[in-house]
Amino acid sequence: MGEAKKIKFRIQRYNPENGVAPYMDEFVIPVTRGMTVLDGLFYIKENLDNSLAFRSSCRMAICGSCAVVINSFPHLACHTQIAELRVSTLELKPVPNYAIIKDLVVDLSPLFQKHRAIKPYLIRSEREEMDAPSAEFLQTPQELEAYLQFSYCVKCGLCLAACPTAASDRLFLGPQAIAQCYRYSSDSRDDGAEERFPAVDGDHGLWRCHLAGACSEACPKGVDPAFAIQLLKRLRVSRALGLGRGRRPTPVAPPPTAMQPKLPVPEFTVKPETALRREPEG
Ligand code: FES
Repeated sequence: MGEAKKIKFRIQRYNPENGVAPYMDEFVIPVTRGMTVLDGLFYIKENLDNSLAFRSSCRMAICGSCAVVINSFPHLACHTQIAELRVSTLELKPVPNYAIIKDLVVDLSPLFQKHRAIKPYLIRSEREEMDAPSAEFLQTPQELEAYLQFSYCVKCGLCLAACPTAASDRLFLGPQAIAQCYRYSSDSRDDGAEERFPAVDGDHGLWRCHLAGACSEACPKGVDPAFAIQLLKRLRVSRALGLGRGRRPTPVAPPPTAMQPKLPVPEFTVKPETALRREPEG
């Protein structure tokens, strides 16, 4: 059996608390078939340097927490196989446009604050139905398609990291939040576009986008935020011209008839009374 293939990881290390400037640290590790960059980081942490800081959770490109820059391009570390990069050295840096907490871990709170600013939930005028839903809202497959692609966002922040406008304007709302503004405003069940527009109308909002397209290139989920931003520009202009205001959000499903009996709701497997019961101490 031949010797296992090896790869060099060059990783930017930085701890703002110790006052040492960022520097590159090197590790050589064996590569196995199917190994991802995140697997490599775990190998280093478990075998070579347990002080290395990086973030991850799901390991399947769903939680969005392992975003890093790999050889100058933003990626999800768990979604990037080492073999497919076809290089002998990987250079890993934290994603730009965020403050570094330690090594590869950045502070994503600005991303989440911007996301919250566009009210990322369905907004409707019937308070009673929103507070105590009586049924699901009706939606056709075509209405679903209008926003489905944009709903795949996992909030990894790679689009904001890749955005040249965000690099020069820290207050820029960014591709993630603007795309999600379109995702909810184009949902046929929603009636809240006008409520969201103030968040995207400012000097650092929708119209700051220069359509560089870097966000869509970086997105690991195929969301295409650059396209969503253009669609939101069209929606914003048409609403400003008074077009499309007559659209009513889709209604709730009517009560089931005798021909369409209501489907029985399966029993919960975790009962509230057992889940909340406290174990006796001692
Ligand atoms: Fe969840 Fe990579 S660990 S997206």
